[in-house]
Amino acid sequence: MDGNGRWAQARGKPRLFGHQAGGRRVREIVESCPELGVKYLTVFAFSTENWKRTQAEVAGLMTLFKRYIVKEATALRDHGVRVRFIGDRVRLEPKLVALMDNLEALTAGNDDLHLTIAINYGGRDEVARATRRLALDVKAGRLDPETVDAETLARYLDTFVLPDPDLVIRTSGEARISNFLLWQSAYSEYEFVDTLWPDFTKEIFAEILENYSKRERRFGAVTG
Ligand code: FPP
Repeated sequence: MDGNGRWAQARGKPRLFGHQAGGRRVREIVESCPELGVKYLTVFAFSTENWKRTQAEVAGLMTLFKRYIVKEATALRDHGVRVRFIGDRVRLEPKLVALMDNLEALTAGNDDLHLTIAINYGGRDEVARATRRLALDVKAGRLDPETVDAETLARYLDTFVLPDPDLVIRTSGEARISNFLLWQSAYSEYEFVDTLWPDFTKEIFAEILENYSKRERRFGAVTG
């Protein structure tokens, strides 16, 4: 969800103004998923690198996440959305982690849309944390190292219950992965759009999905 800062700057407003507008877009895009046939949606809200921003921006974002969870919890539950969070929770403040845990529990019975929110998430960090847990299981005698393959490692990732993404969309004209779902997106399609996240409407989302549906995916095989 890139481009909130530039969107705000273009309007002479502080960066947090852009993040607030970005939050409203999350709602619109989540709402559009059922009609567009999207069953799994993962949004990148805060990366392991985002701590390098000013203390004020980081604090503002954390407050926004807490408010978002409190404000949207009931609507998410009532609309069949199952919410999950990925990323390392250790560095997050306990109050935010408690709200995340509660929202996951509150929506655990839902299955219409699986919304995953990445907070303090980094693909490399995720693989490193997975490897550490895997190594601990080997050390404890719970896992035979000779049996470790890609599927084994995938089971230790934060996303272990989720399918790999079919399509990754990056907004704001940057053509980088920036540490997002590195392992999981090995065969994903990519779409880079110039639109800044606060301007990303459901019409733009629908158009991207329409284009995606016309692509041929081979997963390394030959067709035709
Ligand atoms: C990147 O834009 C955006 C973020 C680091 C924050 C994303 C957060 C939200 C959209 C708010 C709420 C979302 C949820 C799901 C609770 P940027 O700041 O890097 O923009 P720039 O590249 O223009 O500076």
